[in-house]
Amino acid sequence: QIYLYQDRLTPLTEVHISPEDRGYYFGDGAYEVFRVYNGKLYETEAHFTRLNKTVDALRIHLPLGQPALTQRLEELIQANGLQDGIVYMQITRGAAARVHAFPSGAEPVLMAYTQTLARPYASMEQGIAAITADDIRWLRCDLKTLNLLPNVMAKQTAIDRGAGDVIFHRSGTVTECSSSNIMMVKNGVVRTHPANNLILHGVTRAVVLRLAQAEGIPVQEMPFTVEELLEADEAFITGTTVEVTPVTSVDGKPIGDGSPGAVTRRLQQAFDTSIP
Ligand code: PDD
Repeated sequence: QIYLYQDRLTPLTEVHISPEDRGYYFGDGAYEVFRVYNGKLYETEAHFTRLNKTVDALRIHLPLGQPALTQRLEELIQANGLQDGIVYMQITRGAAARVHAFPSGAEPVLMAYTQTLARPYASMEQGIAAITADDIRWLRCDLKTLNLLPNVMAKQTAIDRGAGDVIFHRSGTVTECSSSNIMMVKNGVVRTHPANNLILHGVTRAVVLRLAQAEGIPVQEMPFTVEELLEADEAFITGTTVEVTPVTSVDGKPIGDGSPGAVTRRLQQAFDTSIP
């Protein structure tokens, strides 16, 4: 396994992350998960737009410009012979004695690796059960930071209860899932939470909304409640790792007839054919 560490490709044994790294102390950093299909980065520009937004907000300086970084990621994919999988990349504020304020002189630390990951054929076919949970996260869920403890805890609760994922809501308004966005379908209209500070602006979400429009499926970027979700005809989640995965039950109650819906199937098909 070859890693990208700062600006060079190197074996894992040469990656030296300090115990004083602020990513470790504070979760003080940003990350991205890129999909790789057939050895090629997918929606690269959209991921970089989001990464830039996050690092700008955190005031962390990327050690490499976007063209050089893209090239390094491509070299990393090639070095690891990755065909289908993901590239995980993170950047932290760097290592310094533990003080809350930004330390002077810390150098940002960038690290990326690849992971082989098959497309989730089984869950895309059958759908998943989901549970709901209070969205106890902060108010900048649009930033892709390393602070994922609420997501981790909620996901584990879902697994412990035999569900595939958790659907977050704020006082009854559905936001998103632990590592994906959620959409519902009612009377042929696709509805999803608007891309504001309460959700991550998913790259897959944007692709699916674009595909829906191209398919002539009406789309509303408008919040909906857990109650409305339970009354929906269909529901599905979108994300780099889940693509378009049907949600067939929520808190043990079937969505629609409890099997993946027709609009969901159309969007899965459209997504499939959109993969270059
Ligand atoms: N997660 N919402 C949250 C909270 C996420 O963490 C993710 C992605 C998404 C979907 O975004 P995208 O379509 O750009 O993958 C929505 C990644 C895959 C992760 O943390 O592993």
